[in-house]
Amino acid sequence: MAVTVVVGSQWGDEGKGKVVDILAPDFDIVARYQGGANAGHTIKWGDHTHVLHLLPSGVFSEGVDCVIGNGVVIEPKALVTEIQNVEKLGFDLTGRLWISDNAHCILPYHQAIERVQSADQIGTTKKGIGPAYTDKVARLGIRISELIDTEHFSERLQNEIQRTNSILTGAYGVGGLDPDAIITEYVDLGRALSKYVTNTTHFLHHALQSGKNILAEGAQGSLLDIDFGTYPYVTSSSPSAGGVCTGLGIPPTAIRRVIGITKAYCTRVGHGPFPTELKDEVGQHMGRVGAEFGATTGRPRRCGWLDLVALRYSCKLNGFTELAVTKLDVLSGLDEIRVCTEYEQDERLQSHFINDARILDTVIPHYETFPGWNENIQGCKQMEDLPFAARNLVSAIEEFTAVPVKFVSTGPKRSETIHLI
Ligand code: GDP
Ligand code: IMO
Ligand code: MG
Repeated sequence: MAVTVVVGSQWGDEGKGKVVDILAPDFDIVARYQGGANAGHTIKWGDHTHVLHLLPSGVFSEGVDCVIGNGVVIEPKALVTEIQNVEKLGFDLTGRLWISDNAHCILPYHQAIERVQSADQIGTTKKGIGPAYTDKVARLGIRISELIDTEHFSERLQNEIQRTNSILTGAYGVGGLDPDAIITEYVDLGRALSKYVTNTTHFLHHALQSGKNILAEGAQGSLLDIDFGTYPYVTSSSPSAGGVCTGLGIPPTAIRRVIGITKAYCTRVGHGPFPTELKDEVGQHMGRVGAEFGATTGRPRRCGWLDLVALRYSCKLNGFTELAVTKLDVLSGLDEIRVCTEYEQDERLQSHFINDARILDTVIPHYETFPGWNENIQGCKQMEDLPFAARNLVSAIEEFTAVPVKFVSTGPKRSETIHLI
């Protein structure tokens, strides 16, 4: 009985999908515990690229069960489409995919509310994430168990749309939504999803009791955590390891390993402070070579040097037992590599992360500089194949965080990975 957790250590898009896809065959179950279709987890094998938003990144490993836990917010239309796309590739999800009856639905009025309330101010993915979690906490949400109970759902949806329409028109002066069309469409979606719906907490408890191994897959990243991230420029859930227990219903004592996924530099999509952001040609190199465009929204990702102050904070928040350093290949060709080791705030040096967005926005990063390398390292499978400067950077990350690096990713494909276990 053991749970391993994969968590993004930065602002998301660290390569969680790739790492989960590689690890999945060693597990019985892969489970998403928070977030929704704001996530975009890319998996590459052979010439094939697939981006998953709601389905766990274990779907391409035959024989592995996949769970969407109670902590996830589910847009039924997006999920049905995603299931169909995966099944078209020949992966049958019947009897392998389990959706929590307690997970909350994202419905069209959540996206309508987000458009007028927070989308532009925060730079969200516009998937309705914030309003859906708001309704959950306000005890107004509609759960998956209600979606699949047709009569009850129609009544609830009618009432919720009426309530939301009064906000949309009354407070924001925009047109409301037509309940009838939405009810018809979502009743059908509920029917399509019903065969996957179960009490996933019982399912996971039974799995743990039977000695099965579970891989919990985080979405977003620790610096986007609603409590510990750069609020308000965060998502509305708990991507950090703490979210695993509430998002799946499993006890902290079942967690054995926590793997922090860390890009060899930093990226961020949307607004919010980013002390090491680069607006020069080095940042452009990272964006171009790393193909840094959002997997969900297509927006260009902001790029900058690795922030070790932030990474160490993430290590403490999550209790990482190991790190996976991704996209090391993207740094090839840079004359020198910098890593931020301290912040300067009000002329004082500071070695702790500051999650107050207003203050973090004003700090000056202080860097340690390492030599770069010119060799193309894409696809390297052993540490010995890396130039000394690249190995040196990996050692510096280990030393600064005091967490061992167990995986180094040198390209987007499954095979382009160094395993250090
Ligand atoms: P996730 O949200 O954490 O799963 O990450 P994304 O899929 O949003 O973004 C990571 C991007 O980097 C994807 O396009 C991956 O295919 C790609 N990727 C992952 N690991 C590596 C790597 O080691 N090197 C390179 N060059 N690309 C990588
Ligand atoms: P994965 O799982 C990167 C960002 C958005 C925005 C903020 C809030 O692929 O790493 P939201 O729609 O969640 O209310 O937006 O969070 N964001 C992500 N950034 N990767 C993600 O997921 C993200 N999910 C949300 O850009 O700044
Ligand atoms: Mg992503």
